[in-house]
Amino acid sequence: MRETLLAFVSQKGTLLEPAAMDYLLRQENPLVRLERLLGTFPSAPLVVTLQDMLDAEAIARRAASQASTPAPASVVPPVAASFRRVGERAADHAPDVTILRDITGQSTCEGTIDDFTRYFRHRFQVLGGMLRSRRDLHGALDIAKSRKSTRDVRFVGMVSEVRTTRNGHRILDVEDEADRISVLLPADSPLAPEVVVPDEVLGIAGTVNDRGLVIAQSLIRPDIPVTRSFRGTRDPVRAAFMSDIHVGSRTFLEEKWAKFLAWIQDGDEVARSIRYLVVSGDVVDGIGVFPRQDEELAIDDIYGQYEALAAHLASLPDHVTVVMIPGNHDAVRPAEPQPALPASIQKLFDSSVVFAGNPSLVSLHGVRILAYHGRSMDDFVSSVPGLSYHRPLDAMKLMLRMRHLAPIYGGKTPIAPEAKDHLIVEEVPDIFVTGHVHSVGVDAYRGVVLVNSSTWQAQTPYQKMRNIEPLPARLPIVDLATGQAVVREF
Ligand SMILES: [Fe+2]
Ligand SMILES: [Fe+2]
Repeated sequence: MRETLLAFVSQKGTLLEPAAMDYLLRQENPLVRLERLLGTFPSAPLVVTLQDMLDAEAIARRAASQASTPAPASVVPPVAASFRRVGERAADHAPDVTILRDITGQSTCEGTIDDFTRYFRHRFQVLGGMLRSRRDLHGALDIAKSRKSTRDVRFVGMVSEVRTTRNGHRILDVEDEADRISVLLPADSPLAPEVVVPDEVLGIAGTVNDRGLVIAQSLIRPDIPVTRSFRGTRDPVRAAFMSDIHVGSRTFLEEKWAKFLAWIQDGDEVARSIRYLVVSGDVVDGIGVFPRQDEELAIDDIYGQYEALAAHLASLPDHVTVVMIPGNHDAVRPAEPQPALPASIQKLFDSSVVFAGNPSLVSLHGVRILAYHGRSMDDFVSSVPGLSYHRPLDAMKLMLRMRHLAPIYGGKTPIAPEAKDHLIVEEVPDIFVTGHVHSVGVDAYRGVVLVNSSTWQAQTPYQKMRNIEPLPARLPIVDLATGQAVVREF
């Protein structure tokens, strides 16, 4: 039964606290109980705790004793039981926002060949350094020395090309600052399903054959440490996440937005506990972002679009501080890293909005949030078999494993060759949020809470053509003390 329960929760994308598992195993029909409990959450929680179980059962018992008929699942409030705590009001806490990393005001690149050389060297050195500090790459050689080795070799390289042979083997061309070498991932090896994308930096362990080809035995990613748990703040405050509002588009969901506003202005205890709103780009629809966009616009002036957004955000309660980064529809350079919106636009908003670049590492009450709009997901989806726009959290996990937000150069994500590679995930965040794909989801990877933050735009003609079904008007909310997340639908 233990295995059945574990398989069930893993299929639902959640985890079961050991105490909750022990409790369930002592009950009759543990699987039915667990299934019923999960049905009371608006979305799968990160971890199902014993307290969740006891709370939900107490609520169901109370409801059953008040009604003559057995309590249906809908009597349980649409919020995870352990997400509710009494007496925590966001208005009781002053804002505590620090922007830790951001390109704004620091851009130096002009796009010369030298800039690109310097940019990729920085990427290689930082990620190579992370890799070499890993035990499994201790004593790694450079490629020139590895080539001459007759024994097992370990080295670090940047992938310049990935090819598949007629027999289904994959060959990676990998280079460091002085040399390059080809690496074979045999079709019948355990490495066959391993994802590799161009321009990522990885470690390789293998053997060199007499033709100077490396037969890979393992690929090593910079990744993030396994032994982390969520580092929360002591203050019981919460952050809500949204992106892709696309104000100015004919398909902006006015009614859903009005429902959201009504809830956050005068809603339940969860609404009152929201101290921050993190907005991860595509805040307006923009002008001239794609061909014939003017036919899809309700507001065809860029300032008019930001003014309308500012008016929408002005209706938020005073205790909500907004942190806003741009996306590929916003009025800043499209090349990443993107600086914060310019002063001429910032002045349209009131002082409760804090502007930062894309990406940014922002501390909210000491909880570090990496916010990235997510343009690179276009390149991940087109280069990695099995990834899709409906599963952005999978691409986000890859970004953390590769410690890079947009490793693939030359695809749909324009990258500005800054002196430093700002798209490297240098510090491990506590929360990692993206938008862009107009989907929604929460999950966790090695102690980092992952959030993909929905949209407030209905399906556009372009999305319809490409068969992309958005999941609009969902608001992920994360408790900054516990890391627990829920998604509220409007
Ligand atoms: Fe968008
Ligand atoms: Fe976008």
